[in-house]
Amino acid sequence: MKYAIVTGGARGLGLGIVNALLDEKVVEKVAVIDRELAPPPSAIAELVDGFTADVTDEQQMHRAVEEITAKLGKHPAVLCNNAGGGERAWFESGRKQEWDSVATWRRYVDLNLNSVYIVSKEVAPRMKSGGAICNTSSIAGLLATPVLAAYAAAKAGVISYTKTLALQLGAAGIRVNAVAPGLIYTKIWEELGAALGGGDANARATFEATVKQIVPLGREQTVEDIGRTVAWLCSDHAINVTGQVIAVDGGIVLGSPRVG
Ligand SMILES: NC(=O)c1ccc[n+]([C@@H]2O[C@H](COP(=O)([O-])OP(=O)(O)OC[C@H]3O[C@@H](n4cnc5c(N)ncnc54)[C@H](O)[C@@H]3O)[C@@H](O)[C@H]2O)c1
Repeated sequence: MKYAIVTGGARGLGLGIVNALLDEKVVEKVAVIDRELAPPPSAIAELVDGFTADVTDEQQMHRAVEEITAKLGKHPAVLCNNAGGGERAWFESGRKQEWDSVATWRRYVDLNLNSVYIVSKEVAPRMKSGGAICNTSSIAGLLATPVLAAYAAAKAGVISYTKTLALQLGAAGIRVNAVAPGLIYTKIWEELGAALGGGDANARATFEATVKQIVPLGREQTVEDIGRTVAWLCSDHAINVTGQVIAVDGGIVLGSPRVG
């Protein structure tokens, strides 16, 4: 039975990825690894198994992947390293163009970059030829930003590691790609919008103003947008695609000239 492991798959982009992998029939079942599991939507509940673990913790990841492979099969077909982001307090500290505390910097890098290594190290050796990995980076990993320096550095690291891993696993027939989402109103943006906008009441308006300011297509992105792209990258339609990063961002990474 062909199955995927999706980290951070309990909500947000991760749940969008789970839905799309099943909907597009890339896999028959999905194992979600999340530190805060939530019941999956009833339409897919029978096809999703949840495992509680923190992706930054080696021992917890080893245990979770042992449990998953014992239950669903020795060889996962797909791995989506999606868990990441940050927390309200971290966003507050990076709001201005100022120095993050070293502790906050480390937390961002641990959650967004080190976790991708920790999970891949556990899962990739169990994958067979034909397998696919997709890492969730961010537009922040492609563009310079005056805020969220540690998040951006970690997401850029994810892109670098994606390319390295694609080379390392190429001979084994395993493809590795990354998606760089743009602006999606998940819990991350509820908290980031509140931090940047000066309170919960301003979160959505701050998000919408950002969309208006930086998205050439003028619209926000959705979890379905990201899910479909990840599902395609992990499917045999992308059999000759590896080491790539695909921005799903309405054109944000094109940049826009400040003159003219
Ligand atoms: N929302 C956006 O606009 C946006 C843009 C670019 C990239 N991203 C990236 O997309 C990914 C998903 O973000 P989201 O917007 O869906 O956020 P979210 O906060 O809604 O979902 C994150 C999920 O990951 C889980 N998680 C967090 N830390 C974990 C840990 N240590 N161990 C296990 N699970 C953990 C959470 O419980 C949650 O289910 C992240 O990597 C984020 O950086 C999001």
